[in-house]
Amino acid sequence: MVLNKAITVAFSALLLCALCTACGDGQAGSNQSKTGAIETIDPGQARKLYTMKCSLCHGPDGRLMASSAPDLSTSTISMKQREIIIKYGKGLMPPLKGLSPAEVRGLALYIEDFRK
Ligand code: HEC
Repeated sequence: MVLNKAITVAFSALLLCALCTACGDGQAGSNQSKTGAIETIDPGQARKLYTMKCSLCHGPDGRLMASSAPDLSTSTISMKQREIIIKYGKGLMPPLKGLSPAEVRGLALYIEDFRK
């Protein structure tokens, strides 16, 4: 009986440890994106990626508006919203699942230049 209890306590402690470690990892990840410390690709790479994956609908300067794509040069959505749309797609825009977080960020930054 006593032994059983000891085992239960030991097991709970172990489980708690595992949970804490998992929590710690998650926290580190979200801190990273909050401070913007997440790395991004360089503008040359972003331009290449944009030409391959996005210009078909948005055009080289974001103004093509093919397949009912909106004019990116007049877009006012935030960095976060752009990252979400690039990653998950929206309406007729397909999600671009193969992209790394750095590539998504690089593209979101790249298309911001169209507004100038
Ligand atoms: C198949 C055509 C197509 C491709 C390819 C495409 N888009 Fe789009 N995009 C659209 C359409 C259509 C919308 C409008 C979605 C909606 O609001 O329903 C859109 C919306 C957006 C928006 C939101 C603009 C706003 O202000 O609402 C952004 C940002 C964007 N696209 C960026 C990109 C980037 C970056 C790529 C390449 C990684 C890309 N798109 C590839 C068709 C496309």
